[in-house]
Order: sequence, then C-alpha cells, then structure tokens
Amino acid sequence: MTESIRALRQAVQEANRIVVLTGAGISAESGVPTFRGSGGLWRNYSPEKLATPEAFAQDPRLVWEWYNWRRSLICQAEPNAGHLALAELERRKASGPGGPSGFTLVTQNVDGLHDRAGSRNVVKLHGDIWQVRCTGCGAEQRNEQVPLANLPPRCACGAWLRPGVVWFGEPLPEAEWDRAVEASSKAQVFLAVGTSAVVYPAAGLAELAQAAGARLAIVNAEPTPLDALADWVLHGKSGELLPRLL
Ligand code: OAD
Repeated sequence: MTESIRALRQAVQEANRIVVLTGAGISAESGVPTFRGSGGLWRNYSPEKLATPEAFAQDPRLVWEWYNWRRSLICQAEPNAGHLALAELERRKASGPGGPSGFTLVTQNVDGLHDRAGSRNVVKLHGDIWQVRCTGCGAEQRNEQVPLANLPPRCACGAWLRPGVVWFGEPLPEAEWDRAVEASSKAQVFLAVGTSAVVYPAAGLAELAQAAGARLAIVNAEPTPLDALADWVLHGKSGELLPRLL
C-alpha cells in the first residue's frame, strides 16, 4: 500500500493533466450518507426508488422529505481532509505547466462540499441539491432553506418545484458532460475517489480516459468494478489517503 501511494503520488506530481472523479464516498467522512452500502437507506427506501422521475410523479412529498433530510445533513457538514486535499491539488496544478485546465474535478455529488473546500473548476454531473427547478415553467433558483416547509414546494407560477439534480433515467447536463469527456480524453492520470463506479455514464469516464492513454487510480473504501483495470488501487478512507498524495 505504501509503495502504491508513493508511486501514485509521483505520477500525480509529474502529470500536467489530471482528472479526478468523485462520488458519495468522499463526503462520507463529513457525515453525508452514501447511496449504496450500509447507511444508504432512509426509512427503508433505497435511493434508486426515490431518485427517479417516477417516484416524484407518484409521491412528490415523500421524495421531498428525503431531500429535506439530505439537505439538513449536508448543511451541518463540513468539507473533510479529502475535499481539502483536492482543492490544494487544483491550486498547485493551476499554477504549474498545465495551467488552469491541468486539473479538472468531476463530481457525481450534489452536496457542494467541493465548492466549500475551495475547489474552483468543478464539473457537476448530477446537479446541485441547493438548486430547485420548476416542473412547470422550468425556472431555476437557488434555495438554501432547511427544512423546506410546505412540501412539495411551489414555484411562483403555481407548479411544483423539484430538486435541481439528475435522477435515474434522466440525461446528464450536456455542457458538464462535454467538459468531463474533453478533460478525461486528455488526462494523463485519472483518479476515481469514493465512488462505487456502477452508475453510468459517469463511471464510463474512467474507461474513456484509460482508452485515451491515461493511467487509472482508484481510492475507495471497498473494491469497485474499475479495480481490475486500474494501475493503482488504494482501499481506505479518502480523507486519510488523499492528503498523502500531496
Ligand atoms: P455510492 O454510494 O454508490 O458509492 C460510494 C462508495 O464510496 C462506496 O463504494 C463506498 O465503499 C465508498 N466509501 C464510503 N466511505 C468512504 C470513504 N470514507 N472513503 C472512500 N470511499 C468511501 O455513491 P456514488 O458512486 O457517488 O446518482 O453513486 C453514484 C450515483 O448514484 C450518485 O451520484 C447518485 C446515486 O444514485 C444520482 O442520484 C443520479
């Protein structure tokens, strides 16, 4: 393990173009529950049942109660050492030969903890839990009220508001996806952190990057389907491992 960390740290230091893909695991040490594995359930519902347009159509109040719960946990959470290490890596790479595009952080998380840790160049593939969008007129706004009263909340136009996140079965925001693909296809090192790597198309970025020549590293608490492809696999907590890559 120590040898893998040393080798990966060297590769990270030498690379002028790095992409990091993060998932819920990077926020676990901040107290934000992951989707899969222990602690992922809420009132015996799995996220796959709640984070869908069908669930919202059927019971918008239930879906909003789940988001109220997640928003209340997230607003009490602080970025952890893993988020902070990635923000520091971005600062170092941005002032290096690769410039600002030398480091791209692509996240599946909607919690905003990367922003709060100081990361600047964050590509949010699955939206932002602090954004709400009208299901009628499509207007988007930021809403940081915790908890939201009167569920489901309504837009000024009268229609229901929904969370500004991507649900299962919905397309990813096009501009974010294009940025992620562009950066991944030019990366020398692609690092996947705290993701079970089972949700596509996000997980496919690792394969895309590797096919285009990147070396692949995994930092995750448990094994993932990407481990078999990776040049380095570090099993452990991202809040402990990522600072050791600096
Ligand atoms: P998951 O919950 O599927 O996976 C989180 C991963 O983090 C698991 O493999 C854990 O082993 C690992 N983990 C837990 N604690 C960790 C720690 N301290 N350090 C490192 N790893 C740790 O979350 P995602 O892969 O992000 O999408 O899930 C992908 C998408 O599925 C989410 O963005 C969300 C979800 O449904 C949508 O809502 C569209």
